[in-house]
Amino acid sequence: MSIIQIQPAVSVSGEIVVPGDKSISHRSIMLGAIANGVTTVRGFLRGEDNMSTMHAFRAMGVNIDDDGETIRITGCGLHGLKEPGDVLDCGNSGTTIRLITGLLSGQSFFSVVTGDQYLRKRPMKRVVEPLTRMGAGITGRSGGTLAPLAISGGSLTGIEYQSPVSSAQIKSSLMLAGLYADGETRVSEPSLSRDHSERMFSLFGASLVRHDNGVLVRGGFELTAQEVTVPGDISSAAFFMVAALITPNSELLIKNVGVNPSRTGVIDILLSMGGDIRLLNEREVSGEPVADILVRSSRLKGVRISGSVVPRAIDEFPAVCVAAARAEGVTSIRDARELRVKETDRITAMADSLKTLGIVVSETEDGMDITGSDLLLGGCVDSCGDHRIAMSMSVAALVAASPITVSDIDCVATSFPTFFSLLAHVASR
Ligand code: S3P
Repeated sequence: MSIIQIQPAVSVSGEIVVPGDKSISHRSIMLGAIANGVTTVRGFLRGEDNMSTMHAFRAMGVNIDDDGETIRITGCGLHGLKEPGDVLDCGNSGTTIRLITGLLSGQSFFSVVTGDQYLRKRPMKRVVEPLTRMGAGITGRSGGTLAPLAISGGSLTGIEYQSPVSSAQIKSSLMLAGLYADGETRVSEPSLSRDHSERMFSLFGASLVRHDNGVLVRGGFELTAQEVTVPGDISSAAFFMVAALITPNSELLIKNVGVNPSRTGVIDILLSMGGDIRLLNEREVSGEPVADILVRSSRLKGVRISGSVVPRAIDEFPAVCVAAARAEGVTSIRDARELRVKETDRITAMADSLKTLGIVVSETEDGMDITGSDLLLGGCVDSCGDHRIAMSMSVAALVAASPITVSDIDCVATSFPTFFSLLAHVASR
């Protein structure tokens, strides 16, 4: 188990490019695998989570070639996947296991999916229950609520599903099953979660209709291979945005970042806190909005964060919590219960970590109140095996009174293998 000690910095400056978007990278492999023709993917994130998706599809007979720059997926059509000879290991990746479970529900073969010690504790009932209603046979630990899950796919029928939580993983899992179902599969959610599946399904020619906070997929339509260019991941950029905002004398340009409105909650939150953030060179690539993001040091103030911005910033709360720890006044986070079922319980993990650094934090069931301070103490914090806790604490270290040691940092490789070298590159000591 690796540890790192991060020293305080005097500024965070320069020009960087962050690795490709994790969500879009997963989907490019999945849709490429079941499309007709050869899909090429540029900007693919080669993090551990996406490699889990790639290995799973290779195990189902899909030819995926990586020359180090471009991924080439030889699609085998809607019904060309082969029964895997072994358990599909999704590692730490919730997106892999939940989306693939939807896709496997539509296959006329048997499969088993599992993951690491963290993934095996995360709730699967949220996809198992509606997929079972569509006709899939799924069993698993704890009455089918925890992985490993065993899936006997086959003949599915479309359903209308009102998801109780705003979750792109639930929505996308049902959309993938819907490609194989008789009739129409409708999914709606309380407020819109990331819509990369909707965008990529349309790009690949799926029969799909969108409506307010919902989507309808018609089954039985073949997909066509595409050329996909993946933008930089705003979830990775968020750590550097906060780093530049909270460190004095900073000016950082983060180039080529995906700014899909269903993902830009973090920008809206940081702007409302008084952050100096500008989007430059806005454009569209492979059906996704992209921009360069210019960030300068700012005096931040506490805000209340709740409602529909929460799913639009769901992965960025660890970074937002660090901004809140440096802001003037109290930041209140509510309606964020979902944070308790991420890679770890991120409400407790962030509250405990910030308390170790001397910040006053009180947890609520669905969020927390953070009282910002000019003084952040150094010390030792544990990532709890969660990549985003590790990276947010490393950013906090830039403005701490003394070094911060972060333990169990190997998990950073799941989403951002180059994080520490990039941080060292922009931080001046
Ligand atoms: C993701 C959806 C979100 C997010 C995760 C990636 C996706 O999860 O937290 O990191 O790619 O669909 P939920 O659907 O559980 O909110």
